[in-house]
Amino acid sequence: MQRKLSPATVEALVVLGFLCLAVGAGAIGWVIGSAVTSNKTVTVTAAQTAAPSTATTAMTSTTTTTASVSPEVAAGAHDFVQFACFACHGELGKGGVSPDVPALTSAAQSLTVDQLTSIIQHGLGESANPTKPYMPVWKGVISTRQISELVAYIRAGLPAVDGAAPVSVPRSQGEAVAGAALYSYYGCINCHGPNGLGGVPNPQSEDKTIPPLSGSDFRSEFNTDKKILDVIVSGSVLGKAPIVSMPHWGGVIPDADLQAILAYLKTLAP
Ligand code: HEC
Ligand code: HEC
Repeated sequence: MQRKLSPATVEALVVLGFLCLAVGAGAIGWVIGSAVTSNKTVTVTAAQTAAPSTATTAMTSTTTTTASVSPEVAAGAHDFVQFACFACHGELGKGGVSPDVPALTSAAQSLTVDQLTSIIQHGLGESANPTKPYMPVWKGVISTRQISELVAYIRAGLPAVDGAAPVSVPRSQGEAVAGAALYSYYGCINCHGPNGLGGVPNPQSEDKTIPPLSGSDFRSEFNTDKKILDVIVSGSVLGKAPIVSMPHWGGVIPDADLQAILAYLKTLAP
C-alpha cells in the first residue's frame, strides 16, 4: 500500500533539500576560497566565476604549472630577481648586459654545487680588476638558505618562474619616482636598507655595517653629485671576502638610471 506524504513531511523534505544545497554551496565556496588563498597563480576572477567542475580543473592546471619547478628552484628564481643578479647576468642569466659579465647558462652544467656556493658567498675577482664589474661578495647579505636556493635555481637551468620579475619602473613621473623603483630594481636596498637607512651588518668591515645613504654623515662626505656617481659606477673595494664591498656598476647601469637613482637619494633624510 502506498503511503501519502503528509504536508508536514513534504515541508520538512523541502527544507532538508535547501539545507543540502546550502551546505554544498558552502563547500564549493570553501574549495574555491582555499584555491585562491593557497595558490597565488589562481586568478580571483576565474575562480569566482567558475562552476564547481571548472573550479576543480582550475586547481589541477595550476598545480601542474607550479609543479614543474620545485619550491626551492622557485624561491631561487625570486632571489635572483631580489638580489638583482639579472642586472649584471641578464634576464634568466642569459647574459648580454656587459662584455665583462658572463652568462650563467653554461655555469649550470660546468660548476658543482660547492663551486657555485663558494662563488656566490665569496665573489670573484673583487679586487683583481676594480675598473670593471666584478662578482660581489654576498655572504652575510644573502642568507645560507637563499644561497642554496640560488644554486638550485642555476643548476635547474634558470627557468622562467611565475611572478619572479623585477619591480616595474614608472618612467614618466619624474626622476625621483623612477629612482625609488630603481633602488629596488638594482638591489641597492638589500645592502643599504629601505630609504637608505643602512644598518645591514658587515662584521669584518671597520664600520661593522654597510653605510646608510641618508643622514648627515653621508651628506657631508658625499656632498657633490660627482662623488656619489663615482662610487656607484666604480664601486669601492673594502677588502676580500667575507667583507662585503660596494659593487662596480659601470657598464651595467645606464646613465639615465644613474641620474634617476641620484635624484632619489636626494629625497632621503639629510
Ligand atoms: C655587479 C655585477 C654582478 C652582480 C650583481 C652579480 N654578479 Fe655574478 N658575476 C659578475 C662578474 C663580473 C662575474 C665574472 C667574474 C670573473 O670571472 O672574474 C660573475 C660571475 C658569477 C658566477 C660564475 C660564472 C662562471 O661561469 O664562472 C656565478 C655563478 C655568479 N656570478 C652568480 C651570481 C648570482 C647568483 C648573483 C646574484 C646573487 C650575481 N652573480 C650577481 C658580476 C655580477
Ligand atoms: C653587496 C652590497 C651592496 C650593494 C648591492 C650596493 N652597495 Fe653601495 N656600498 C656597499 C658598501 C659595503 C659600501 C661601503 C664602501 C666603502 O666604504 O668603501 C657602499 C657604498 C656606497 C656609497 C657610498 C657611501 C659611503 O658611505 O661609502 C653609495 C653612494 C652607494 N654605495 C650606492 C649604492 C647604490 C646606488 C646601489 C645600487 C645600484 C648600491 N650602492 C648597491 C655595498 C653595496
